[in-house]
Amino acid sequence: MLPALRTARHSVQTPKFPSYNTTATPVVFLHNRRVWRLYSSAAAVSKEIPNDDTATPTTSPSGAIKPLSDSQKQFLDSALRINHAGELAATLIYTSQTPPLVRSHPHLRPLMAHMYDQEAGHFSTFSELLAKHRIRPTMMYPVWVAAATALGWSTGVMGREAAMACTEAVETEIGGHYNEQVRELLAWAENAKEEGKWEGLGVEMKQLLSTLRRIRDEELEHLDHAVENDAKEAKPYELLTNVIRAGCRGAIWISSRV
Ligand SMILES: [Fe+2]
Ligand SMILES: [Fe+2]
Repeated sequence: MLPALRTARHSVQTPKFPSYNTTATPVVFLHNRRVWRLYSSAAAVSKEIPNDDTATPTTSPSGAIKPLSDSQKQFLDSALRINHAGELAATLIYTSQTPPLVRSHPHLRPLMAHMYDQEAGHFSTFSELLAKHRIRPTMMYPVWVAAATALGWSTGVMGREAAMACTEAVETEIGGHYNEQVRELLAWAENAKEEGKWEGLGVEMKQLLSTLRRIRDEELEHLDHAVENDAKEAKPYELLTNVIRAGCRGAIWISSRV
């Protein structure tokens, strides 16, 4: 295994704003794999999320906790791997975009810092979820690091409008991607209720749903900031945003599989 990939598998670092210095404390994959709980009966709600990470859910009729099906687990593994890669890319885009951008537009520093802080929070959230459930990061990790850094730097150098068009394009794709995940979890909740004896999603799934909604809303807030800051004045707007959006879709597709 490549040294860079080995590092990516066992430590997750948040790029620092706005330099390239990455000294954050690594999150090491030490936990035993947790079993996702889809939902539980009302009687089991109070004990459905025990503190013991290794607890095994039961499927007994008296109660208790229904684990995810293989396909649901596969969906979550893949979705969280993509989210983790996407948030890594977002922190790197802002990290490399900010220096050239604020040099010519110093008033944008607070906005860039605000968006970076939110992305760093997202990245940390998905790093913890990957560690907790022992989901491997994408094997493309080193490639996305290079690509996101290059994208951020080049659009930052191109100017304010291009940098904002980059954010608009990325957030359009990522916002839609989070929406798909929210819709999927809501469909699971609906199916759970249709099974009658169940009360809907368990606490753990509800937490994940609320996390995904919050992050989606913050991404869409970034999109609004980009449009307010003349993203659509970028030249050539159509070409730039279409290329970046296609790149995002490609990266999502690859990260879901590799
Ligand atoms: Fe984000
Ligand atoms: Fe964002």
